[in-house]
Amino acid sequence: MPSNQPQTIYLSDYKVPAYLVDTADLRFELFEDGARVHSTLAFRRNPDCQENQETGAPLQLHGDSLKLESLVLNGEAVAPSNYNVSDELLTVNQVPQHFTLQVVTWIEPQNNTRLEGLYKSAAMFCTQCEAEGFRCITYFPDRPDVMARFSTRIEADKTAYPVLLSNGNPVEQGDLSDGRHFVTWEDPFPKPAYLFALVAGDLLEKQDSFTTMSGRKVDLRMYVEPRNSEKCEYALDSLKRAMAWDEQTYGREYDLDIFMIVAVDDFNMGAMENKGLNIFNSSCVLASQETATDMAFERIESIVAHEYFHNWSGNRVTCRDWFQLSLKEGFTVFRDTQFSGDMGSATVKRIESATVLRTAQFAEDAGPMAHSVRPASYMEITNFYTLTIYVKGAEVVRMIHTLLGPDLFRKGSDLYFERHDGQAVTTDDFVKAMEDASGRDLGQFRLWYEQAGTPQLAISDEYDESAGVYHLHVKQTLPDTPGQTDKQPQHIPFALGLLGSRGEALALALSADELASGDAPQERVLELTEASHSFEFHGLSERPVSSLLRHFSAPVRVSYSWTREQLLFLMNHDSDGFNRWDAGQRLAIDVIQQMIGAPKDVTVDARLVGAFRHLISDADLDQALVAKMLVLPTVAYLAELTDGADVPAIHRARRRVLKHLAIALRDELVACYRRNIDSGPYQLGPEAVARRSLRNTALAWLLLINDEEGRSLGLGQYRDADNMTDRMGALKAFVNSGYDDDRAATLNDFYQTFQHDPQVVEQWFSVQAASRRTGQLSHIHALLEHPAFDWKNPNKIRAVIGAFAGQNLVNFHNPDGSGYQFLADQVCKLDDSNPQIAARLVSPLTRWRKFAPEYSQQMQAALMQIRDKENLSGDLYEVVYKSLA
Ligand code: ARG
Ligand code: ZN
Repeated sequence: MPSNQPQTIYLSDYKVPAYLVDTADLRFELFEDGARVHSTLAFRRNPDCQENQETGAPLQLHGDSLKLESLVLNGEAVAPSNYNVSDELLTVNQVPQHFTLQVVTWIEPQNNTRLEGLYKSAAMFCTQCEAEGFRCITYFPDRPDVMARFSTRIEADKTAYPVLLSNGNPVEQGDLSDGRHFVTWEDPFPKPAYLFALVAGDLLEKQDSFTTMSGRKVDLRMYVEPRNSEKCEYALDSLKRAMAWDEQTYGREYDLDIFMIVAVDDFNMGAMENKGLNIFNSSCVLASQETATDMAFERIESIVAHEYFHNWSGNRVTCRDWFQLSLKEGFTVFRDTQFSGDMGSATVKRIESATVLRTAQFAEDAGPMAHSVRPASYMEITNFYTLTIYVKGAEVVRMIHTLLGPDLFRKGSDLYFERHDGQAVTTDDFVKAMEDASGRDLGQFRLWYEQAGTPQLAISDEYDESAGVYHLHVKQTLPDTPGQTDKQPQHIPFALGLLGSRGEALALALSADELASGDAPQERVLELTEASHSFEFHGLSERPVSSLLRHFSAPVRVSYSWTREQLLFLMNHDSDGFNRWDAGQRLAIDVIQQMIGAPKDVTVDARLVGAFRHLISDADLDQALVAKMLVLPTVAYLAELTDGADVPAIHRARRRVLKHLAIALRDELVACYRRNIDSGPYQLGPEAVARRSLRNTALAWLLLINDEEGRSLGLGQYRDADNMTDRMGALKAFVNSGYDDDRAATLNDFYQTFQHDPQVVEQWFSVQAASRRTGQLSHIHALLEHPAFDWKNPNKIRAVIGAFAGQNLVNFHNPDGSGYQFLADQVCKLDDSNPQIAARLVSPLTRWRKFAPEYSQQMQAALMQIRDKENLSGDLYEVVYKSLA
C-alpha cells in the first residue's frame, strides 16, 4: 500500500470552522522565477464554535507546496515554539480571540504543472482555486464556509504584464521602480477562497456593457491574447443574453460595476465562476465562424451563461462544504439548460441533456465510482466534479420544478436567494426553501440526494375492452451501489400521454368521475412514491399507445416491451418531440441489437428504412428534431445498455445497420444534401444549424458507402466552406471514409491552414483520435509525437488520449488489450505532472466490469498496473482503488 494513501473525509464529521476571517488583504509580487505572496488576515473566534468559545482552539491553516517566509501575529513574529508546519497544515498553537496574522509565502507558478492555485499559461499568470487551489497560494482556512472580504494588490513588470486583474473593482494603480507597476482590487462581497482569482498578462481588452433591470450600467470586459481578437463577440453576446435572461426568469441582477471574462489556453476544466472575474478554458469561450463548429458555439453560450449564473447560485449563496457541491452545480446546470432551451429549441436541448445523462451519467452511476448527488464521503474532492453532481444534480432540481410548477418554483428560488444571501449552505437548505415556498412535502424526494444509482421502472399494461379501462403498472427498483444496498423507493414525477389509433391525444381520466367531468387532461405527471403502482384510465374505446416518461421527466431507466409497430407509431405521432426522438432511438437500438453476431443473411428491418426515408425526405417535419433523429445511438450508449458488452461486435452491428440505411436511402440522401445547401450568408439560428447538421449527416452516410457523388459533394464542401461546421463536417466524413487519398489530403490541408490556431488544432487532433480508421494505436502514437502536441496542455491531452479512450471505442477495446495498455501508460506518465487530469482520463478503464471477460480481464490488469505505479497521486489512488475493490 503506498504511503501517500489519501484520507477519507466524511460528511458526518463536518464541524463549523473554529476561526473566521473578516478580511484578507493580499499583495502579490510576480516575478519570472516565482511569486511572493503577502497575506494579512483578520481572524476572530467563531461564535458558533462551542469548543473554541470555551477553550481556545489552535489555529489551523491549509497549505500545499508553499515556502513559508515569515509569520507575524499582531505585529510580532510568531515564536518557533508556537507554530508548526507540515505538508498540509500550518498550526499556530496559541492565538487570542481577535488577531491579525501576516503570512509571507514564496511559490513557483512557472513550475506549477498541476494547474491548481497560481500558475503560468504561456506568458500569463492565472489562477484556479476551486476546489482547494487557494492553499497552493498561501496559508488559509481553505473551506467554503469561511468567507472573507478580499483586497488584492498585484505587482509585476509593466511591459510583460500590462494587465493585472483580480476580483471586484479596481481601486488604485500606479508605477513602481524597475519598470514595475501595480493595481489594487477590492471585492466588497465576502467570499470563500475558492472564488479568488488573479490574472496578469499582455492581454487585449474587448469592451461592452449591459444595463441592468434597475438601470445600472455594468462594464463588460473580455481579455484574450491579441491573436484572438476576432473570437470574442459570441461570448460577449451570450453574456448579455444570459444577464437579461437571469433578470427575467429568476429576478437576479448583477451586483458589481464590472464583469470580466478571461480566456486561458491551459486549464483543467471548462471554466470558473470567480467573483467578477470568470476564467475560461479558451476552447469554451473563443469562437469565430471560421474556427468554431455550431456545437462549439452552443457550448460557449451555455458555459458563459453557466459561469455567469453562478454569481447568484454559487457565489452570493455558496456551499457549506464540498459534499454540497451539487447545491451550486446541479442548480446552475439546471439554469443553463433552461436558458439554452429558451434561446433555441427546448426539445433539442432536452434530447442533448438526456443523451449525456443516459450514455455517461447512467454508466457512472452503475460503476465503481457511483455516488449520490450529495456524497457521504470522498478522498479527493476534484474526483467529484462528476456527471452525477452536475447533470444528475440538475435533473433533481428539474424534478422539483416539474413537481412544483414554474410559479411555485420561482417562489422557492426567490426565498432561497433571499434567505441565504451571503451564506454557505446545504442542499437541504435548498429543498427546504422550495418546501416552505410551495407548501409541498419533499421529505421522500430528498432521497434523490442521498441514494446513488439509477432507478429502474418496469412497466406493463393491459386493456380491458369491456370496461373501456386501460391499466398501467409501474414497478420501481433502485440497484445496489458501492456502500449502499436495500434502498427505498424514490419520489418520481412520471409524465404520461396516451395516443389513439389515429395518433390523436386521448384524455387521461383516472376515474369514472373524472371521465364524467370532462376535465381530464391529455398529459399527466403521475407521482410515483411506492415500489409499485397501478393506474387506471377510463373511457377508452380502444387500446391506447402509451407515451411514457414524456420529456424524460425523471432520470430513470424505463423498460417496457414496445413492439416495433408501436415505436414507429410514436415516432410519427407523439405530440411530445422528445418521445418521438426516443421512440426512434429505441427502434434503432432494437434493430442494431438484433444484428449483433447475426448471420450474414439477416437483413435490417425494412420498417426502420421506411422510417428513416420519411425523416430524410419530408421537409415539412421539424428539421432540428429530424437532424437529431437521424443520429443512430452511439456505440457507447449501446455498450451501456449491455451486460458483458463486446464492443467490436456492437460496432460491427451498428455499422451494418448504418451502411444498409445509407445504401437503401442513397438517392434520398443526395436530395436531402442538395435541399439543404445554404445559398445566403452564414447564420447561427436554429434553422441554419439544422440545415448544416442534416447536410453533414447525409454527407457522412454517403461517404461511408464510397458514393462518388458524395465524394465530389464533400470535396466541394471542404474547399468552399465559409464556416467550421461545414469544413469539419467534410473533413470528418473523409476521415471516416474509405477514400484514403482524400483523407490524407484534407487532413494535411486542414493542418496547414489552421496550424497557428490551438482551438482548431485540438479539433484536428480529436477527429483523428476518435476515428476508427485513423485512430489505430500507431496513429495515436504519431499524434503524441506531433510538434503541436503538448503534454502540459490539458486540451491537447483530452483531444488525443481522451478522444481515443472515450470516443474511439472500437480501437480502444482492441481484443489484444493494446488500447488499455496504452491508456495505462499515458495515465501513469501524466500522474506525475497533472494528477487531476490523470484521474479523469482513467475513467474508461474503471468500467471494466461491464465488458465481456476477455476484455474486462485485460482492463483490470491495466488498472492494477496503474495501482502499482510509484508515487501514485491521491487523485489517481482513489479512482483506481475504488474501481478495483
Ligand atoms: N465551478 C466550475 C464550474 O462552473 C468548475 C471548476 C472545477 N475545477 C476544478 N478544478 N475541479 O463548473
Ligand atoms: Zn459550475
